Amino acid sequence: MKNTEYMIIDGIPVAINGEACILDLIRTLGIELPTFCNNLELSVYGNCRMCMVETQEGTLEFACSTPPRAGMNIKTNTEELQRYRRVILELLLANPVPDRLRELAEWLGVPPYTQKPEEQLKPQEEPVGDN
Ligand code: FES
Repeated sequence: MKNTEYMIIDGIPVAINGEACILDLIRTLGIELPTFCNNLELSVYGNCRMCMVETQEGTLEFACSTPPRAGMNIKTNTEELQRYRRVILELLLANPVPDRLRELAEWLGVPPYTQKPEEQLKPQEEPVGDN
């Protein structure tokens, strides 16, 4: 008989059955975790950081690229994680973005980025030189 290994996700014990990453287990529980780097419209594959989860030790892991480990204990939606996701999304929205990213921004309540006056580019000065 095979010993089943478990990890804890948001306080719920979950059996590990060969899933490649924590994200797969999170989804089996019906927990919605924002992700978008698997979307082909985006060039940030594997690097969006939206799927961050927090371990019991207080470290951050990327759910989409971290294999589940027996005894691992994670939280998927702490206030700190929500704040991190909002900041990352705000920065990504500072550039022209595909619809999927705008949908995520609406889901997480991140407003469109507006440039602050101190961030605006100043006109280039004329080069100084001998004429
Ligand atoms: S979904 Fe993009 S880093 Fe995990």
